[in-house]
Amino acid sequence: MSLCRVCHASVREFFDFGQHPLSSAFTVPGRTTDEFRYRLAIGVCVSCSMVQLLEDIPPEHEVHEGYPYHSSNSTVMRAHFEETARGFLSTELTGPDPFMVEIGCNDGVTLRTVGDAGVRHLAFEPSGAGGVRVHRAFFDGASARAVRAAEGPADVIYAANTLCDIRDIGQVFEGADALLTPDGVLVFEDPYLGEIIDRTSFDQIYDEHVYFFTARAVRAMAEHFGFELADVEHLPVHGGQIRYTLARAGRRTPTASVDELLAGERARGLTDPATLDGFAAAVRGIREDLPALLRKLGAEGHSIVGYGATAKSSTVTNYCGIGPELVPFVCDTTPSKHGRLMPGSGIPVRPPEAFSSPYPDYALLFAWNHAEEIMAKEQAFREAGGRWILYVPDVRIV
Ligand code: TYD
Ligand code: ZN
Repeated sequence: MSLCRVCHASVREFFDFGQHPLSSAFTVPGRTTDEFRYRLAIGVCVSCSMVQLLEDIPPEHEVHEGYPYHSSNSTVMRAHFEETARGFLSTELTGPDPFMVEIGCNDGVTLRTVGDAGVRHLAFEPSGAGGVRVHRAFFDGASARAVRAAEGPADVIYAANTLCDIRDIGQVFEGADALLTPDGVLVFEDPYLGEIIDRTSFDQIYDEHVYFFTARAVRAMAEHFGFELADVEHLPVHGGQIRYTLARAGRRTPTASVDELLAGERARGLTDPATLDGFAAAVRGIREDLPALLRKLGAEGHSIVGYGATAKSSTVTNYCGIGPELVPFVCDTTPSKHGRLMPGSGIPVRPPEAFSSPYPDYALLFAWNHAEEIMAKEQAFREAGGRWILYVPDVRIV
C-alpha cells in the first residue's frame, strides 16, 4: 500500500489506467519501441483525503529541465494571466516596494504584467525560459532562503498549473515559510477534483499531475505545514480550476467561500468511495464509447483527425487504445511537436495548416479545455460540414 505524499497515512487505490508513457515523450518516427512506461494509477488518502498518483517516475526517466509548462497558445489564457496580475496589483501588491514571486512562469505573462506596473518580480524557473526575471532553480527551502537573503521577503508567491506537479510538496511550504512576509500569501491554481469528477475529465490524470486538489485536502495540507486556507475562487480556465490562497496560520480570517466550498464537498461526498468508484465506472464507459464511435465513423468512410496534441491526450489515446489507424494525425500549433509522434499511440503531429487541406469530416477535440476559442476560430470547418467529437463530459458529436 502506498503512503500519502502529504501526511504519510495510507492511500486507497481507486483507479488503474495500466502502463503509460510519459505525457511529454513525443518521439521521433522510427524510434517508438524503447519507450519507458509506468503504471498510471490514482488513490485517495484515508486521512487527509488528498487524491494523488500512486507511482513515482524513476529519477532517470524524469524530465528535469524546468517546470512542465505547455504553452497553450491560447489568447484566453493570456488574458487570464493578465487579469491575474492586475488582481494582485490592486490587492496584495499595494504596500511600499512590493515583491511578487512565481513558481514556474507560464510564458511570463503574469510577471511581465506585474513588471510593467513597476513592481519587483522573480520567477523560479530552472530552464531560464519565460522572458522575465528568473532565478534558475526549482522552488524549495534552500532556493527560497537564498532569494530571501538577497532580495528580501515576498508578498505573493504564485503558481499556476505547477504545484499539482511537485511531488515533494513539503519543500514548497518550507520555501514559502522562508520567503513570505508575515502576512504574505501562497496562491496556486490547478485542476479541481470536483470538476474532473463532474466532467469525467480523466485525461487530467497523467504523470505531470501528481495531486488532484480539493478544498478539504488543501486545507489539511496547509495545516500540516503551518499554513491556513484563507480563500478559494472558481476559475473557468482549463475545464474548471480552483485558486487557493494560503496564509500563515492565524494571519487571515478565512472567507465565506472557503466554508461554502468545504460544505459543498462534504454534501456531495466528493472523496467518498462511492463517488470515486462512480467516476471509475464513467471512465470505463468512455473507454467503450470513444473507440467504438471512431471505428464506426471510420467504417462509414469518414475522415477523422485529432485537434491539439495535449499532454492530456496521452492518457486518452493510451487508455482507450486509439492509434493512427483510428486517428491518422493530430494538428497542433506548437512547432516543437511537428513531425513527432504522440507518446505511446504513435499518432503523428502536424502543423495547423494540415487541418484545412482538406478539412476532415470529424475532428476529435483533444484540446477540449480550449473548446470555445478553437470552435470560434474554426468556423470554416463547420461551414464545410465538419463536426467535432468530444469525450468530455461524455462521448458526443457536436
Ligand atoms: P494545454 O492547454 O497546455 O493542455 P495540456 O496541459 O494537456 O498539454 O495544451 C493545448 C495544446 O493545444 C497545445 O499543444 C497547443 C494546442 N492548441 C492548438 O493546436 N490550437 C489552438 O487553438 C489552441 C488554443 C491550442
Ligand atoms: Zn494524507
